[in-house]
Amino acid sequence: MSRLNKVVIPAAGLGTRFLPATKAQPKEMLPVVDKPAIQYVIEEAVSLGLTNILVVTGRGKRSIEDHFDRSLELEHLLQARGKSSDLELVYQISRISNIHYIRQGEPKGLGHAVLAGADHVGTDAFVTMLADDIMSPDSPLLRDMLAAHQQTGASVLSLMTVPPEQIGLYGCAKVVERDNSLVDIASVVEKPEPSEAPSNLAITGRYIFTCGIFDALRETKPGRGGEIQLTDAIQILAKREPVVGVIFEGGRYDIGDKVDYLRAVVELALQRPDIGPAFLPELKAILEDYSKETIDDLAR
Ligand code: UTP
Repeated sequence: MSRLNKVVIPAAGLGTRFLPATKAQPKEMLPVVDKPAIQYVIEEAVSLGLTNILVVTGRGKRSIEDHFDRSLELEHLLQARGKSSDLELVYQISRISNIHYIRQGEPKGLGHAVLAGADHVGTDAFVTMLADDIMSPDSPLLRDMLAAHQQTGASVLSLMTVPPEQIGLYGCAKVVERDNSLVDIASVVEKPEPSEAPSNLAITGRYIFTCGIFDALRETKPGRGGEIQLTDAIQILAKREPVVGVIFEGGRYDIGDKVDYLRAVVELALQRPDIGPAFLPELKAILEDYSKETIDDLAR
């Protein structure tokens, strides 16, 4: 098996769930504490040796490329002002990895965005990471998925148990137990009606694919919402070759969702040694200001 180091990061969606912030800026650039969401995702990849990164962008996504590029004016200014730690921070971002870009043209769905990576990826297995799904830095998920791929040679999905009433927000997997947290995927379906869902295992934003996914995507017709759905292509793939899943718990934030975004900012700030100790008392004070009645009122 060739060493896996290619990553496709779809970041061309419209981010309608986060309007108006996403009207003129990509949701992938929303700051989570002090870093854009996509930087967390790219750092996660690089920390596991996945250094050949293709970001799929589209209209209005220029700031993603600018963020990971050199910023000579800013570097000169910081140097002139003697701000060496800020200078290092800015310079480091442009050295994170070997990042390539391709445009999706039209946001015709997540599956369509992944297919835009076909020429870059070729016949290797590769990782797909959604730019708006960020993981807590201590999450073992992607490492476990790479181990599962190494062990099986198969495509690997990341699966999270969600409350039954929420499964209709996700792709959903029907699985057969294998060992521990590793399962075989029997079938997948995009955003099922909760009453018809085959399980409460949601497919989340980390994937490892064999190149077979590209043929499956080419055959995938527009599905839910008229989009080329990645889940529909996975269903085709799973009929042709083994696909496995790794079940994980916690440490995942969908920053395209406003409430999950807020959870990400609070939890990741608390985990930061440079910010957490100053932020925790502030957070406690805010919560103490809310009486039990007010919290009950808000929850209604
Ligand atoms: P989402 O479904 O969360 O993104 O796709 P969206 O369509 O931008 O969001 P909403 O529902 O309108 O708020 C997950 C990832 O896939 C990318 C998105 O940028 C996001 O990172 N994506 C989605 C594409 O690259 N192209 C698409 O056509 C759709």
